[in-house]
Amino acid sequence: MRVQVAIVGGGPAGHLLGQLLFKAGIDAVIIERQSRDYVLGRIRAGVLEQVCIDLMDEAGVGQRMHAEGLVHGGFDMLFKGERHRIDMNHLTGGKNVMVYGQTEVTRDLMDARQAAGLTTIYEASNVTVHDFDTARPRVRYEKDGPNGKEVHEIECDFIAGCDGFHGVCRASAPRSAIREYEKIYPFGWLGILSDTPPVHEELIYANSPRGFALCSQRSATRSRYYLQVPLTDKVEDWSDEAFWQELRLRLDPEARAKLVTGPSIEKSIAPLRSFVTEPMRFGRMFLAGDAAHIVPPTGAKGLNLAATDVKYLSNALIEFYQDKSEAGIDNYSERCLRRIWRAERFSWWFTGLMHRFPENGEIGQKFQEAELDYLIHSEAGARSVAENYVGLPLDFGE
Ligand code: APR
Ligand code: PHB
Repeated sequence: MRVQVAIVGGGPAGHLLGQLLFKAGIDAVIIERQSRDYVLGRIRAGVLEQVCIDLMDEAGVGQRMHAEGLVHGGFDMLFKGERHRIDMNHLTGGKNVMVYGQTEVTRDLMDARQAAGLTTIYEASNVTVHDFDTARPRVRYEKDGPNGKEVHEIECDFIAGCDGFHGVCRASAPRSAIREYEKIYPFGWLGILSDTPPVHEELIYANSPRGFALCSQRSATRSRYYLQVPLTDKVEDWSDEAFWQELRLRLDPEARAKLVTGPSIEKSIAPLRSFVTEPMRFGRMFLAGDAAHIVPPTGAKGLNLAATDVKYLSNALIEFYQDKSEAGIDNYSERCLRRIWRAERFSWWFTGLMHRFPENGEIGQKFQEAELDYLIHSEAGARSVAENYVGLPLDFGE
């Protein structure tokens, strides 16, 4: 097979890129290690910045998102047992976010791809990338055929590494050309999904001496809640009842009284990590999304960052094919990384502000509460939080 762009990884980043390239008349194939159902079974964050909403529209897949997504103009910060609202809409001159699950984003993109008759190779095993330092890169994979496992090869002009944190693309970049920055946090998030009405119409981020908690949602009848837990905890150790009990203890009296509990339909523990790869381009191979960077989930920047990488990459590839210009390609890494580092900084800061760090002792909790008190009572402080939460513009300070 010969295509212009071979996209490795069919998560949200790979699928969004596929759709933006398709709209521009650029021929691309997606090679995904898992099945469609497996990819759609992963539960991830669900807060879209305006930039991401606009990209879904640009890709022609915004219809269901606008019908079902919940527009939020603010969120609550809970500390010292009291809730305070950050009025994002007011503080940012009218900007909002949209609560719409990442699974739904991926599903909409997959459906559009299928409807357009575009090729996605699911359940491709042993994917390898080759010759991306030449003008003729290749991607190889194995897939079950009538005669057992068959090896396939795709020739392309460019490889887009959208294969997530554990993917093959970043791992194939020459070690001497790559620099990685990483911070691992000493706790995880235990998440629960349940078919119960959300405790509040907006999100609640809670700083409590017992640890962080987050009340989020997927719809008027489906809730998503998280608790900070030690990394040594196992999901089997947490019964639904124990989860609800602990959540109640981290909430304010009003939310505690309003909380509707029910059986979990998903329960998992995710570790927290800050991670950035520099650069994001190796000859004719580009990294985008989780393949290049991870943020801790506080603030829900992961999907939004993946979406903006993809926007820069599709622009660069369109410029290459339509204008015969390599300027976008040459700029790709630097352009992405500037935005990525700002979101990394915010996610790290917000994580530090809201979680319990036992090694910082009781004074650590006091410092956090004082900072929160300052932030919500200072217009400048609150605006800084709001501005970062709604997301930085695609082009800033250029
Ligand atoms: N070959 C082919 N596909 C692969 C390989 C491989 N060797 N390794 C991984 N993949 C696939 C995975 O199965 C997955 O479907 O690449 C896809 C990567 O998808 P994601 O991990 O969802 O990453 P991305 O598309 O960049 O989305 C970023 O995910 O983790 C969240 O917070 C993050 O919301 C953000 C989003
Ligand atoms: C979620 O709904 O899963 C979610 C929301 C906000 C976050 C993180 C996760 O900051």
